[in-house]
Amino acid sequence: MAIISLANAKGGAGKTTAAVLLAAAYARKGKSVLVLDCDRFSSATDWCIKAGAKIDAISGVTSSNLAEHLRRNRGRYKHVIIDLSGASDMLIALASGLSDLVLVPVQGSVLDGQGAVHVFNIIDMVMQNTRSRVRRAVLLSRVNPLVTTRSLRQVQAMLGQKGIAVLATPIVERSAYRDMFERGCLLDNLDPAKTSNIDKAIANMAALLREVKTFIADDEHAQTPYSGICYGEERAAQPGKRDPFRRYAAASAASLAPSLSMPSA
Ligand SMILES: Nc1ncnc2c1ncn2[C@@H]1O[C@H](COP(=O)(O)OP(=O)(O)O)[C@@H](O)[C@H]1O
Ligand SMILES: [Mg+2]
Repeated sequence: MAIISLANAKGGAGKTTAAVLLAAAYARKGKSVLVLDCDRFSSATDWCIKAGAKIDAISGVTSSNLAEHLRRNRGRYKHVIIDLSGASDMLIALASGLSDLVLVPVQGSVLDGQGAVHVFNIIDMVMQNTRSRVRRAVLLSRVNPLVTTRSLRQVQAMLGQKGIAVLATPIVERSAYRDMFERGCLLDNLDPAKTSNIDKAIANMAALLREVKTFIADDEHAQTPYSGICYGEERAAQPGKRDPFRRYAAASAASLAPSLSMPSA
């Protein structure tokens, strides 16, 4: 099971579109997908229901129930996509620490990355406090199809100089993506007479999946900073596997015990 979060503090960056497109592209390949929808308007969930695709969705996901949803669905899906629309800093931090990959959509034409920088700062904080690594990258979204590979490379180089990884495959600005969302259907079910370049949109998504695959490992949450919070008990139950958090908790409880003892009357 691979968990991918879409995060950007800014609305309209393309998070929900990217979440739905990724989920649809995985479902198209016959993979089981769960969308965890943090948007209070539940737009990704509504699309999943309307599209009739084999994509499960759970709406109303918050920082208090995200870990529980992941725990309950562990191993049931090949891919989990978290749409962090409108998420609080706390939810972004928690989701980042539980994800195998955080993708930060940034509009390729505008490139005002303030909302993206905010997300990267939160992830840095998570990494510093957990002393572990969160895989993350900018996903250029709504890129004008006329933008050349050369100018995209320049954008990648510019962000690369700031230490920010950028996926080589952008999500191109396509009416197919808008129509798919508005009509509540899959790319394959769009009418070619009404929507142009459906084949190009499908090819764009296939290329994105190939690149995303190079980022995520199929192993089960082995590396994620907060996986212990989410799956701690199950991990501890595995024979022969040590649970460092339990040992830490036991040690700190023992060291606190003298100060907690009540004075005798
Ligand atoms: N690649 C794209 N091509 C065409 N329209 C897009 C694309 N990405 C986003 N949009 C449109 O931009 C608007 C905002 O996108 P959305 O995914 O809802 O952003 P967010 O979830 O970050 O608020 C929507 O109307 C959506 O249809
Ligand atoms: Mg959204």
